Amino acid sequence: MKTEFLGKTLSGPFTVPSGIVTTAVPIIQYMFDHMPQIGVITTKSVGPVPREGNREPVYSQYSPGNFVNAVGLTNPGALVAAEAMAKLRIPEDRFLLVSIFGGSLEEFVEVAKIMAPVADGLELNLSCPHAKGYGMAMGQDPEMVRAITAAVKAVVDIPVVPKLTPNTPNIGEIALAAAAGGADGICAINTVGPGYTASHGHPVLSNGAGGMSGKGVLPIALKCVREIREVTDLPILVAGASAVPPTPENLSMPAHPLSA
Ligand SMILES: Cc1cc2nc3c(=O)[nH]c(=O)nc-3n(C[C@H](O)[C@H](O)[C@H](O)COP(=O)(O)O)c2cc1C
Repeated sequence: MKTEFLGKTLSGPFTVPSGIVTTAVPIIQYMFDHMPQIGVITTKSVGPVPREGNREPVYSQYSPGNFVNAVGLTNPGALVAAEAMAKLRIPEDRFLLVSIFGGSLEEFVEVAKIMAPVADGLELNLSCPHAKGYGMAMGQDPEMVRAITAAVKAVVDIPVVPKLTPNTPNIGEIALAAAAGGADGICAINTVGPGYTASHGHPVLSNGAGGMSGKGVLPIALKCVREIREVTDLPILVAGASAVPPTPENLSMPAHPLSA
C-alpha cells in the first residue's frame, strides 16, 4: 500500500515511533531491509551531548499491553549519532525521521544542524514527560513550540515534525502554534502522565514515575488526533497504542504495530 508522506512515496503506511525499538542503527537497517509495511522509522531521540539516562528498571508492563517507562533520554549525543546514522542505507521508499531534543531553543538548533544531513526529516521531541527540563515542559507552552519549530526550520531544508504531548488542556492550541512555526507535520502523541507503579510497596521504575503508553492510552491518542485535525490539515504521524484504523477523519498515518 503506497503512501505519500512529506515528499516521498512510501512502501507502507505504518510507522515505528521514537525510542522503543529504534535505539540502534542495525535494528533500523533491518527494518528498512525486511519490513516494507513500515514507511516511516523514527529514531530514538538524540540530544546535544551523551546521556546515560536512568538506571534500570526503566520500562515496565503493569498490565497486559500497558506500559510505564522512564528511560531518561539515553543517547550517545548528536555527533556520535550522526556518524552512526550516516551508514544507514535508506531505501527510496522509506522515510528516516530523526527525533531530536534539547534543553533550550539553542540546543534544538545545534542538534538539528548536526542531524539534518543524515535525515529525511526531523521530529522535535517537545513532549517527554519524565526527563526534568526537557520535552514536555517546553511542549506545553504554545509560544515555545512555535519558536523552537521556527528556529529549527530556519536552519534545515528538510521537513520538521513537532511531537506533541497529550498532557495539555488544549492540544489544538499547541498544534496551531507548531503550524505557525512552519511545521510540515505533527506527531501525536508522546507518553501520558507520568504515572506511578509499585510492587510490594516499592516503585517499579528507578525513577519512581514514568510516562504511560500502550493500549490504555489509545482513547487519549484518538482524542488528541481529532483535536489536532480540527485545527490543521498537516499530516499527522500517530503513536499511542497501535491498531488505530486509518480513517480520513482521525489520521493520515495509522499508528505503528510494534510497540504495544
Ligand atoms: C521505552 C520507550 C522509550 C521511548 N523513547 C522515546 C524517545 O526517545 N523520544 C520520543 O519522542 N518518544 C519516546 N517514547 C514515546 C513513544 O515514541 C510513543 O510516543 C509512546 O510510547 C506512545 O505510543 P505507544 O502507546 O503506541 O507506544 C518512548 C516510549 C517508550 C515506551
